[in-house]
Amino acid sequence: MIGISDSYVHLVRLALEGRQQDILTLVKKNIKQFQNIHPELSINLKNELVSFQEKSTVVRKNIGTPLPIDLDSKLELVKKEFVSFEKELVWPKDVGEELLKIIQERKYQTELIKQGLTPTRTTLFVGEPGVGKTMAAKWLASKLDIPILTLDLAAVMSSYLGKTGNNIRAVLDYAKKNHCILLLDEFDAIAKKRGDDSEVGELKRLVTVLLQEIDEWPETGLLVAATNHEELLDPAVWRRFERIIEFPKPTTIEISYTINDLLQNDYFDKKDVIVNILSILSDGKSYADITKEINNARKESIIQNQSLLIILEDLINKLSTNIEKTEKITIALKFLEVGYSQRRTAEILGLSRDTIRKYSNKV
Ligand SMILES: Nc1ncnc2c1ncn2[C@@H]1O[C@H](COP(=O)(O)OP(=O)(O)O)[C@@H](O)[C@H]1O
Ligand SMILES: [Mg+2]
Repeated sequence: MIGISDSYVHLVRLALEGRQQDILTLVKKNIKQFQNIHPELSINLKNELVSFQEKSTVVRKNIGTPLPIDLDSKLELVKKEFVSFEKELVWPKDVGEELLKIIQERKYQTELIKQGLTPTRTTLFVGEPGVGKTMAAKWLASKLDIPILTLDLAAVMSSYLGKTGNNIRAVLDYAKKNHCILLLDEFDAIAKKRGDDSEVGELKRLVTVLLQEIDEWPETGLLVAATNHEELLDPAVWRRFERIIEFPKPTTIEISYTINDLLQNDYFDKKDVIVNILSILSDGKSYADITKEINNARKESIIQNQSLLIILEDLINKLSTNIEKTEKITIALKFLEVGYSQRRTAEILGLSRDTIRKYSNKV
């Protein structure tokens, strides 16, 4: 076991090199290590750490060191944003709960640290494209009131690997020193990349570095990795993350919230039933697809100077081509209930008027 004098020498080296995050990691290790053999030292270190962390959340926010750049292109390697959302977002229930826990843990950070606990430092977002992973990372940043740095690994991995490694390391170093969220987007790109033989060693080193960083990420920051391809990630990688959040496709209720939200400034007749039917027909789609479809309809309405209601009825017509007849009939009844004519209902849903007549008589 490493003794006090080794730790001290190590500490001096880190201090001289100005490696604050590494010092914090070392101190935390020492607090645990010395708990039984030097309890007083361990307590003193813990007090120092707590008072530093209380101060640091306020002060370190304002450190404005320049962003790391790619040495060849001189382009910035990451995007840094301060985000704020005008309106509240709705998350699938389990996702919302998990995100809230991350926020709450930050709020109670001091209390947690006093008890030898740390707030979530690393989290992995998993789910199909368009289900809100990137957005959730930004939402967290807005809630925590810290900037978000986004590193798109798919983009950075395409270049020469040796350089990629240096670039990724530069970003990680920068992120660790700043009070921020680091989003490693398209995280599976690391796993996907299969370089030629000369690059395999470099790739392995890169993965090792990344995994180590995940383990040692400072709690002053939050590392979020997002992936569309969970199957590409080695279980060993999964295990490194403290909190794994799976993003499902939105349910009909969540879809209807989203559509209502997108249409909040549009006024037309029978809006409720239109939103309800669109939500049913959008089952299985991602937030991204739904947002695109509704916004395209809104644009079309403006450009063609056509009422949005008619455009949305066309959209319902398009979305209902592939559904079962029984489902069409359920939807037809919804139209009839709010006063649509049998003729128009038949037209929108591609049903015969006889069918509509037959079923409408039954109710
Ligand atoms: N919870 C949500 N509520 C409403 N819209 C959402 C939500 N999550 C995502 N979206 C919409 O879907 C789009 C794509 O989301 P994004 O976070 O980029 O997906 P992912 O990163 O999972 O591929 C967003 O730009 C937004 O318009
Ligand atoms: Mg994304």
